[in-house]
Amino acid sequence: MPVLTPQVDKNSEEFARNRSRLLERIALLDEQLAAARAGGGDKYVERHRSRDKMPVRERLDLLLDRGSPFLELSALAGWGSEFTVGASVVTGIGVVSGVECMIVGNDPTVRGGASNPFTWKKIIRALEIARHNRLPVINLVESGGADLPTQVEAFVPGGALFRDLTRLSAAGVPTVAIVFGNSTAGGAYVPGMCDYSIMVKGRAKVFLGGPPLVRMATGEVSTDEELGGAEMHSRISGLSDYLAVDERDAIRLGRQVMANINWRKLGPGPAQPARPPRWDPEDLLGVVSSDLRVPFRPQDVLAHVLDDSRFDEYKPTYGTSLVTGWGYLHGFPVGMLANANGVIFPEEAEKAAEFILLANQVDVPLLFMQNTTGFIVGKVYEQAGMIKDGAKMINAVANSRVPHITLLMGASYGAGNYAMSGRAYEPRFVFSWPNSKTAVMGPQQLAGVLSIVAQEAAASSGREFDEAADAIRRASVEQQIERESDSFFMSGRLYDDGVIDPRDTRTVLGIALSAAHSNQIEGTRGFGVFRM
Ligand code: COA
Repeated sequence: MPVLTPQVDKNSEEFARNRSRLLERIALLDEQLAAARAGGGDKYVERHRSRDKMPVRERLDLLLDRGSPFLELSALAGWGSEFTVGASVVTGIGVVSGVECMIVGNDPTVRGGASNPFTWKKIIRALEIARHNRLPVINLVESGGADLPTQVEAFVPGGALFRDLTRLSAAGVPTVAIVFGNSTAGGAYVPGMCDYSIMVKGRAKVFLGGPPLVRMATGEVSTDEELGGAEMHSRISGLSDYLAVDERDAIRLGRQVMANINWRKLGPGPAQPARPPRWDPEDLLGVVSSDLRVPFRPQDVLAHVLDDSRFDEYKPTYGTSLVTGWGYLHGFPVGMLANANGVIFPEEAEKAAEFILLANQVDVPLLFMQNTTGFIVGKVYEQAGMIKDGAKMINAVANSRVPHITLLMGASYGAGNYAMSGRAYEPRFVFSWPNSKTAVMGPQQLAGVLSIVAQEAAASSGREFDEAADAIRRASVEQQIERESDSFFMSGRLYDDGVIDPRDTRTVLGIALSAAHSNQIEGTRGFGVFRM
C-alpha cells in the first residue's frame, strides 16, 4: 500500500494561522470539559465527600482496568442551555476486567444527580451505542430521578431508558447496576431492569416511593432502610444480587461480575499489528484550514491518522472532490470517504455509492470524513440528474450495514450531511473537530436566501421592499445560524458523540472501531433500487 506524504508547508503563514486558530478552539473545548468534570462545583463535591462518598469520576477510575483508556461520550451535553455542561451524567466506553463496556454514571453533585432532558438523551444515546455495538452496560447509580421542574420535556420519552436496558438483556448483552445512593421512583427500574444489581450497605435507597410519599399515600410509617435499603433488598426482596459493604467493595463486585460473563467479541480482531502513522499528529493542527471556505486535502489528514500513513486510493483520478480508499487504523481495515473541496458533484456521488457497495461486499467498516457544502446546484447539474446521482449515494449510505463512523472535519452543510452518513443515518459514532459547523447551509447563504424570498414576496404583492430592515434582519439571521451551527452547540444537543481534539483522532477512532468489533461486522449484499 502506498505511503502518503503530506503536501503542506510547515513553515508557511497559512500553517501557523491554521494552527493558532485551532489551538484557540481547543482551549475553549478544554475549558468546557473542565466545567463538565467539575460537576456541581466545589460546594457540592465537598458535601458529597463529607458524606464519605466518591465523586463519579473516582468511582469510574476504580472500576476501569488500570491504565486502560476511557472514551468519554457526549461530554458537552447541555452546553449552552440552563443546565450544567455534561448534564449530570458521565457516559463512555472503557474496559472492565478485560471487557469493553458502556459505562453510565450519574453525577450526584449536580442537582442530586437528577436527570434533565439532556441527561435522558445522553443516557438513551449511550444505550443505543451499546445496542448497536453489543457492549455490556454498567450503571453507576445515584440520582434524584427526573429533574422535576423540566419533567414535561423528558418524562414520556425517558421511559426508553428502562425499555433499552431490558432489550439489551434480551439481545444477550449483560447489564449491571451498582447502586451507590438514591435510585427512587422510575430510577428504581435501573437496578430493576439490569441483569445484575449490586447495592452499597447503608447507602442504596431503591424504592418506588420514599417514606414521605408512602405516608401520604397510605398512612404507613416506614424508614428508608425498610422501604429500599441494600440489606432489605439483599435479604428480603431479592432485588439486590450482591450486598457491598462500601463503595470500593461495590466496584470490586462490579469488576467480578464482568470477569465472569464469559464475554467474547463477535467481530474479527485487528487484521494486522497497529503501526503508528509516519507523520506527527501534532501537525494536523496546521493542515486543517481555519477558514471553512478554504479546502484542505483529506490525504494530508489521513497521513497523520492511518497506520504507517498507508492509503490505497480508489479511483484517484475520477470524481476528485471526494477521496475514497482503503487503509488500516490500529490494525483494523477501514474504507475512507472524505470530502476534498466541499461540493459533491454527480461523479463523486456515483463513486461514493460504488465504494460503499465494495466495502459491504467484503465486510469492511467505513469512515466518513465530512467537509462538505452539499450537492452541486445549478441548471446544468439539475438537468444532468444530480438528484438521481445524489439518491444513489443516499441509498447506498442508508442501506449499508457495515459499521460507519463519521468525523466532522469542517463544513457539514445541506444534504452533504446526510449523504456522508450524518447522525440521521445511524453511524455507530459521530465525532466533531472543534472547528466544524453543521447546518442546512452556511449562515450568509441562509440569510441571503431569506432576503431574496422576502424581496420576491414584496414584489409580487406590490409592496415596497424595506432595504434597511432587510439588512438588519440579515445580520441577525447570520448571527443566529453562526451560533447554532457551532460544534459545541450541536454537541450540546447530542447531535454528535463528542467534540474531540484533532490530535486525538486516531486514538478516538481506534477505540470506536474496536467497540464496533464487539458485534459482527457484516455488510449487506442487497440495496434499494438505484436510480439510473
Ligand atoms: N429535580 C430537581 N432538582 C432536584 C431534584 C430533582 N429530582 N433532586 C434534587 N434536586 C436539587 C435540590 O433542589 C438541590 O438544589 P439546591 O442545591 O439548589 O437547593 C440540589 O438538587 C441538591 O439536592 P439536595 O437534596 O440538597 O441533595 P442531597 O444529596 O442531600 O439529596 C436527593 C439528594 C436526590 C436524595 C434528594 O434531593 C431527593 O430526595 N430528591 C427528590 C427525589 C425524588 O423524589 N425524585 C423524583 C423521582 S421521579
